[in-house]
Amino acid sequence: TPDLARLRALPKAEVHAHLEGCFEPAVLEAWAAQAGVAMPRPVERLFQFEGLADFLHFLDWACGLASTRDRLAELSYGYAKRLADNGAGYADVIFNPTHWKAWHGRLPAMLDAMDAGFAAAEQDGLPPVGLCVSLLRTQTADEATELADALIALRHPRVVALSIDGNEAAAGRTGPRFADAFRRAGAAGLRRTVHAGESSGPEGVRDAIELLGADRIDHGVRAIDDPALVELLAERRIPLGVCPTSNLVLGVYPSIEAHPVDRLRRAGVVVSLNTDDPVLLGASLVGEYALCGETFGWSEDVLRDLARDSIAASFANADVKARLL
Ligand code: ADE
Ligand code: ZN
Repeated sequence: TPDLARLRALPKAEVHAHLEGCFEPAVLEAWAAQAGVAMPRPVERLFQFEGLADFLHFLDWACGLASTRDRLAELSYGYAKRLADNGAGYADVIFNPTHWKAWHGRLPAMLDAMDAGFAAAEQDGLPPVGLCVSLLRTQTADEATELADALIALRHPRVVALSIDGNEAAAGRTGPRFADAFRRAGAAGLRRTVHAGESSGPEGVRDAIELLGADRIDHGVRAIDDPALVELLAERRIPLGVCPTSNLVLGVYPSIEAHPVDRLRRAGVVVSLNTDDPVLLGASLVGEYALCGETFGWSEDVLRDLARDSIAASFANADVKARLL
């Protein structure tokens, strides 16, 4: 198996990580104490989750404490630092405004706070980051078009994509509900990335492609249950942003041996490895390469190709891609 230094040195990007997943437990504990807010459980067990719904509920609590510009900027800077530590040269980072109670109704200020952190990181030689602004699966069609139109009007240079995340199981089939918002975003030149095939089966992935015009699928792993869909993903080269450790921690698959990432790859689907919510779920980018490399017996060449595909799958601009590829 390749050693960690070799994995770190592979030119790569992260294309599926949430800013909501980057809080350090001690920081949350300090913020909660300062705000006089109760901890949901002791700090040693703060990041123990009972599945996706419980996890998403926790995000509301944690993000609610990140109430100032400095906190949001520092969280953003910290993510870029983590990227550099893992040898990544770029990332698309998702954030979902619904989780951040203190910032509701203030999207431009929120974007500026994150942008300040990412710009400071770049100044310090850390990798560039693009933002994917995310809808929550349980939002309404009107809320979705409102967010899409706000992003189109703002044209914030840090924003590269419209995204959708959250719990598909709690929302039922939602592709039709969000089609208009995604059509508008695509027509205005925003990229589109869609969580699907995590808490939904293959039908969620199909809707992401056919109704939402997804340029990329976040997770998408349950496409494995539909061979025709696997073929379609491979044929159209629609990349999946796969997060193995997240899928284990949140109970999508019972073991890494049972995880379909290698079967998808061997079927010709473009896959990349990502952390999803690195600190909350205990994942590191190099760790994901090591885990899969070891489990599936991937050669250096396979790992190198995967890393290269992650750069190609990213929404980085042409200059950044050319520098990394
Ligand atoms: N938000 C943060 N992490 C998520 C995940 N794994 N699935 C859906 N929404 C999320
Ligand atoms: Zn995710």
